[in-house]
Amino acid sequence: MAARQSVEHAAIGPRSHPKPEKTRLKRSGVDSAAVRETRVAAEAHDVWTSGICGAVGRTPMIRLRHLSEATGCEILGKAEFLNPGGSVKDRAALGMIVDAERSGRLVAGGTIVEGTAGNTGIGLALLGLARGYKARIVVPETVSIEKITLLRALGVDVRTVPQVPYSNPGNYQHVARKLAEEEPGAWWANQFDNTANREAHFRTTGPEIWEQTQGRLSAFVAAIGSGGTIAGVGRYLKERDRSVRVVCADPHGAAMWSWIKHGHTRFTEGDSVAEGIGQNRVTRNLADAPIDDAVRVGDRVAVEMLYHLLRREGLSVGLSAAINVCAAVKVARESGRGGTVVTVLCDGGARYASTLFNPDWLARHDLSPRAPGLEFMEQL
Ligand SMILES: Cc1ncc(COP(=O)(O)O)c(C=O)c1O
Repeated sequence: MAARQSVEHAAIGPRSHPKPEKTRLKRSGVDSAAVRETRVAAEAHDVWTSGICGAVGRTPMIRLRHLSEATGCEILGKAEFLNPGGSVKDRAALGMIVDAERSGRLVAGGTIVEGTAGNTGIGLALLGLARGYKARIVVPETVSIEKITLLRALGVDVRTVPQVPYSNPGNYQHVARKLAEEEPGAWWANQFDNTANREAHFRTTGPEIWEQTQGRLSAFVAAIGSGGTIAGVGRYLKERDRSVRVVCADPHGAAMWSWIKHGHTRFTEGDSVAEGIGQNRVTRNLADAPIDDAVRVGDRVAVEMLYHLLRREGLSVGLSAAINVCAAVKVARESGRGGTVVTVLCDGGARYASTLFNPDWLARHDLSPRAPGLEFMEQL
């Protein structure tokens, strides 16, 4: 298990605990009950975190039993939905906040502004509120009602805007930038082009995966939203072992498969209901990312996987996690038996109760799961 060190702690160096009192007390002849109590307190100190920010990261790695047995490879999912804000984006949020504090762009009492498909906003808001900031979040109106409800419950000023391409000035990212420019004391997190995002994954997610697999992994698979996860983890793993394959899982409608396979972003056919992924441009986080290959995954097979993970593995996750696992299975099959493929379980299913876990919604989108077993894997 990786050393219990959060993004923030990794950024500012190891926590300096006061030396346990044990030795001094023993020497001074204090009775053994007091010594025991002090020892318990000292040990507790090691597991306490300094507020919610210290609880980010160090997530478990979960072996997906049925898929591992079916492929003859170890298929492992990094349980990022267990972060305090419920997603992998807590790492990027904390990394960007700490970086902005250090550079003086985020000052006491300031406002964090971001355009997001929801999870980054939740991470920024939760961690930011705990550090005394306000938050203003712009989301496309296609974002799940559960995420918007949570943001509003946090007291965040949430603005919803029509879902329009990045080239349109009304795109949520541009609206967020403008809001930040107009407000004194506001800081635009800019997750897509702020490389403190991928640095957080380089410093934490990558080392955790390396330690949890004891350096024995053949591939790392991740879908791309900002690209922070795949770029940061990919760079760390490649620095440790160049033979680890880094593979992008791309939903239909995104351009990353096209970019990685053909060097341009022109092929974007299809569409996906997955939130948080589906990128059409090469963000600054993605520039120079060491990505070897890409796999396209359709929503229909991903929903089958979503329900397999829920009902056979007891894992309640969102669609980007299911797309990641589909791609991990494909990579495992292609690489042959005996490998270890790690992927990311990006967020939890409760965030999509009204959509992915609502039979009426699924039927309306012609996505109702059909296969009782693993037959759906033939569609990969
Ligand atoms: C649910 C979900 N999965 C995956 C991602 C992609 O992560 P990254 O932005 O690091 O590429 C995001 C990003 O917002 C997300 O919200």
